[in-house]
Amino acid sequence: MHPPDDNLLSPAAIADPQSFFRRLREHDPVLWSERHKVWMVTAHADVQRLFQDQNMSSGRMISGFRKRIQAQHGPLVQHAMGLLDGWMLLNDPPAHGRLRDPVRKAFAPSVVAQLAPRISQHCQALLDQLDPSCDLVADFCRPLTSLVICELLGVDPAEKDFLSDWARAFGRLIYGTSSRDGDYIKAAAVMGDQFYERFSRHLEQRSSEPRADLLSHLLKAGNDESWTHNELIGTCSMLLFAGHDTTSALIASSVHALLQAGEQATLAHADSASVGIAVEELLRFDGPSKTNIRVAQGALELGGHDILPGQHLWLGVMAANHDPSVFAAPQSLDLNRRPNPHLAFGAGIHFCLGPSLARLEAALALPALLQRFPRMRLANPTAPDYSPTIVDRSLRTLPVHLF
Ligand code: HEM
Repeated sequence: MHPPDDNLLSPAAIADPQSFFRRLREHDPVLWSERHKVWMVTAHADVQRLFQDQNMSSGRMISGFRKRIQAQHGPLVQHAMGLLDGWMLLNDPPAHGRLRDPVRKAFAPSVVAQLAPRISQHCQALLDQLDPSCDLVADFCRPLTSLVICELLGVDPAEKDFLSDWARAFGRLIYGTSSRDGDYIKAAAVMGDQFYERFSRHLEQRSSEPRADLLSHLLKAGNDESWTHNELIGTCSMLLFAGHDTTSALIASSVHALLQAGEQATLAHADSASVGIAVEELLRFDGPSKTNIRVAQGALELGGHDILPGQHLWLGVMAANHDPSVFAAPQSLDLNRRPNPHLAFGAGIHFCLGPSLARLEAALALPALLQRFPRMRLANPTAPDYSPTIVDRSLRTLPVHLF
């Protein structure tokens, strides 16, 4: 059989990655893509197994790219790239545990649950300000998740716009590919310098006046673990980056999916247990994770193929979440689906640190929005505006009419 199109960045694949992955899985669930020079893995069992395989390196994911950019641009990108020193996601054991363990406690469900009243207040305040025709991504989802992560870290909410801009510039630098435009290296370098300077100042303040916030916690944990200054500031940047756009993307794509399926009233009036179950389905159905990248450290055999040391693999999270051998009728949004063993938060040692926070934000924001505007409808139902990237699945804009 003729192999299917393997271009994950084609307009068709960006618009409908679920169908793109289905064609790949039906042809061969472990497929070498000559175009992207990667193995594309699309079956749930394989994706889950690879996430848990110690032979898969996360640290080597962008090490070649990083060396190249540093060699070409030297001091210009010193701070922007130096932040990556603190990214647990880009480290393998034992460095990974040294960066992750001290942060883990701060994201425990009991700690995160205390944020609920403030998240609800932010939701209501943002809903009060919405215009009858608006872009939910810019006017609700991004400001909400940005305010929450600022509050958690202990950063002044007035900084939320700077942090959003930094996250976008930084994302274009490290994950960008086709979303890169103009002089994206210079833009990321300028934002990286500003990020470094601001967070150095915040941390200096916390060292003389500790507070009950995550920055003070990180400062203490960093001292205990002898983190370098780059690792400390880099950890702040990892949490801001990981916690911001992903959760915003989840809320936006959930609204989109619910309106498309005519299910908004179901969620608006559900009890909190049912909302929790529905959020898991929304994570599975069209959640923010498309692929996660790994590099084989040694040779392995997978699905009858020999994978060589140094080769890259794309673990198709979205493909796994639509694997019909695990999920009945995967293309249907079933808000009551149980069990729901989706892989939207990954698995293994790099399993997401923020599921409690992401779930809580979605579980509070979605009913609040849908109760307030029960007649909301999509302004652009036939052409959703998805970001053209490999790793994430997110709506750049979500224009709606609220009445
Ligand atoms: C719906 C929202 C979210 C989704 C879908 C998501 C998804 C993921 C996924 C798939 C990974 C694993 C990446 C890999 O193995 O290559 C990951 C890692 C991570 N996530 Fe999330 N995430 C979300 C929200 C958050 C939030 C709110 C935070 C915290 C503020 C967070 C912090 C992290 C961190 C620190 C890691 C790296 C963990 C490690 O390397 O040990 N995420 N996330």
